[in-house]
Amino acid sequence: MKTPYVNFDYEQLKAKYSEFRSLMPRVKIAYAVKANSHPDVIYTLAKAGCWFDVASLAEVTLTNYTGLERFYSNPIRNVDMLLEAYCAGVRYFVIDSFDGIQQLALLSDEVLSEIKVYLRLYIPNDSAVFALNRKFGMTPNHVGPIILACQQAGIRLVGVSFHVGSQCLNPEAFREPMRVALGVLKHIKDAYPGERMLLNLGGGFPATDELALSDFADVINEELMGVEDTDVVAEPGRGMVSACGTLFTRVLAVKKIGQAKPIAYLDAGAYHGLTEIKQGLAFEFTSTNPQSRPLEYCAWTVAGPTCDSYDMLGDFELPVDLKVGDLLTMRNAGAYVTECGTRFNGFPSPELTGCRAL
Ligand SMILES: Cc1ncc(COP(=O)(O)O)c(C=O)c1O
Repeated sequence: MKTPYVNFDYEQLKAKYSEFRSLMPRVKIAYAVKANSHPDVIYTLAKAGCWFDVASLAEVTLTNYTGLERFYSNPIRNVDMLLEAYCAGVRYFVIDSFDGIQQLALLSDEVLSEIKVYLRLYIPNDSAVFALNRKFGMTPNHVGPIILACQQAGIRLVGVSFHVGSQCLNPEAFREPMRVALGVLKHIKDAYPGERMLLNLGGGFPATDELALSDFADVINEELMGVEDTDVVAEPGRGMVSACGTLFTRVLAVKKIGQAKPIAYLDAGAYHGLTEIKQGLAFEFTSTNPQSRPLEYCAWTVAGPTCDSYDMLGDFELPVDLKVGDLLTMRNAGAYVTECGTRFNGFPSPELTGCRAL
């Protein structure tokens, strides 16, 4: 098969969704479509009853047919996008600023009466490989004035959300934000006594061998003890799909000069699905070739295929006798790989392959 591609295991995806549900029975799951928006991924999860976190109109369109609950968790949108998502049936919308209120205030009373709004809180993202808090969230001390402003504008404020940062490597990172969020929820409940409240835990669940989902579930379940009359939702992206995908990429060229580290140029690189390696995510390549001398490994510099130097990926342990045409695999490639690939310099990005579960 022509490389690069990501082989995706849909049975594993079904099992992962069940694992989320069974480890956190109190938490409904809204898969973050941005992690992998392949129609077969959406279909498999929709069939299992999973809800969706949508963050653009394209993601709204992709999930329209499911008829399942959706959360528009991206506060960055204009009023046309908001209305189009509303017309497509989305009812939950996040805001994280007073500007978000001004946008909602442009809507008719009828539309406004159907829209349920939640606040995205700023929380520390120190335990995550990818911090999101420089871009999103409002500090809890703005919450009082924002509740008041929502009331004055006729906005139905029903909940709070936060995000611990993507690839969060410490389950405890959920504990304090949950306490803060539940405190804010009490204020909202007082201001909106008739409304059913929503606590949205966001994503952040990592793809790593060092931590299990149960480590995160333990903290979340503990903090949810005694929480009543509240819908609780999590929006895993990476944690849902990453481990289901394996990247297959080939060595396109090699260069060995003198004592310098040898360089392997792959047909996938930073522009072609592997941008997260550049941003600090730990990935490993494994050689699939039958090894004549399996124990002889050395450090190779690995780079992508383009005539550009941004796609230098770093140093990796690979077989000493690695050669042109060798096939390498990379685990945990089901999230943000096929999604983030470009066609820069005319090279194709990895496509998703694999047989969808019926
Ligand atoms: C609001 C929201 N929810 C969920 C996610 C998914 O995060 P992750 O892939 O870390 O689970 C993101 C990621 O950007 C997000 O912004």
